[in-house]
Formats: sequence, structure tokens, C-alpha cells
Amino acid sequence: MAQVLHENTGFDQITVKHPGGFEVILYNHQGAIHAYRNSCPHVGVGLDWGTGRCLSGPNELQCALHGAVFVADTGECIAGPCYGQSLTRIPVRVEDGKVVCG
Ligand code: FES
Repeated sequence: MAQVLHENTGFDQITVKHPGGFEVILYNHQGAIHAYRNSCPHVGVGLDWGTGRCLSGPNELQCALHGAVFVADTGECIAGPCYGQSLTRIPVRVEDGKVVCG
């Protein structure tokens, strides 16, 4: 059964709670919604360091702790201590304008 992660797609990047009890980074790339578990491959902390924000440039997410940089629409780390690793993608889709999972 679909569960709503966010009521709309009117954001560039936000962090939300997943029904599974973990945080999810939502990124809107030209209308395509990408979702990743908010856990840095380096040591497993949230990229946003509690602010909800980790979008650091065009199509770029950055971890606040040691500065790892990720391509926002693929999740691949392209700089920093976890270079070559990736964020864990969470399957989501848009239904009736809402971001849903499940
Ligand atoms: S915890 Fe993210 S770069 Fe170290």
C-alpha cells in the first residue's frame, strides 16, 4: 500500500521521515524525484547534520561531516572519503502530485 512521504513536489531538496523509521533525502531534478536513505556511506551519519538540507550546488549533494560530494540524480560519490561509493536509493514515485513509496 502506498504511503505518502511528502504532499507535493514543490521543493528542490528536503529530508523526510520514511514509514520504516529512517530519514530519506528527496531531490527534485527537473521534475524527476530521486530518493536516498539519509546515511553517508562514509560513517553512516545523515548528510544534512540535522538541518534537512544537503543540496550544495547544481545537481550536487554534500555531506556536512567530512564534505563528501554526491551526484544528486545518481547518488554516486565523486569526491571525499567515500569516493566511488553511492547513497542507497529508495524507490519512490509521484501519485496525484504526492511523493509516495510502497
Ligand atoms: S560522514 Fe559523510 S563524508 Fe564522512
